[in-house]
Amino acid sequence: MKHILAAIATVLALGAMFIVYQSDKEVNKVEEISKMIAKTEVKVQLDTAPTAAQEAAVETMSKAEIEQEQAKKKKELDEKLQALKNKAGNVAAFSVSPLYKQKCSSCHGVNGEGIIGPKLIGLSAEKVYKDLEEFKSGTRKNYVMYGLLSKMDESQMKELSDEIGSFEQKLKEQQQ
Ligand code: HEC
Repeated sequence: MKHILAAIATVLALGAMFIVYQSDKEVNKVEEISKMIAKTEVKVQLDTAPTAAQEAAVETMSKAEIEQEQAKKKKELDEKLQALKNKAGNVAAFSVSPLYKQKCSSCHGVNGEGIIGPKLIGLSAEKVYKDLEEFKSGTRKNYVMYGLLSKMDESQMKELSDEIGSFEQKLKEQQQ
């Protein structure tokens, strides 16, 4: 009789432990799920305030879909930003010579602010001339600059150097 009671007690104890273990797991799951929800909420909030319709849609969206949607929005924003930048890049603060505009501005910017090529504004005329000489002679190797300068005569190089050397001053005058 004692043995049977002991056995029943053991079974009950084991059962209780099992239930506790299970519910612990449930708690963990609930925690995990709420963490996931919190994460997606943060992401959605970052992405400018959603409209009511978007909010309703988000509820039925899977994580992958949400990510896709966000990537799309980011791309749209980036494109708008790029368009603005391009626009800004094309608005000159001061006017430049046709020679600079034609030959140099596409890479160095309308006012030497730099695009593909480095920023030129702020360089002295002497430094620019020295750079151009070096590119032309091949002492400083750059295929693009070499190609451009190989057909350019000294007087044009000098003109451009002097002009670029005056960019910073021109910009300052413009900003006053
Ligand atoms: C197709 C693009 C392109 C065009 C057009 C171009 N450049 Fe460049 N330029 C570059 C690149 C790229 C470099 C960087 C080369 C390097 O550091 O080796 C550079 C470097 C320079 C530098 C050296 C700047 C520094 O701080 O080291 C000067 C000066 C320069 N260019 C002047 C000019 C002038 C003047 C013109 C117009 C005649 C011109 N560039 C046209 C692409 C261009």
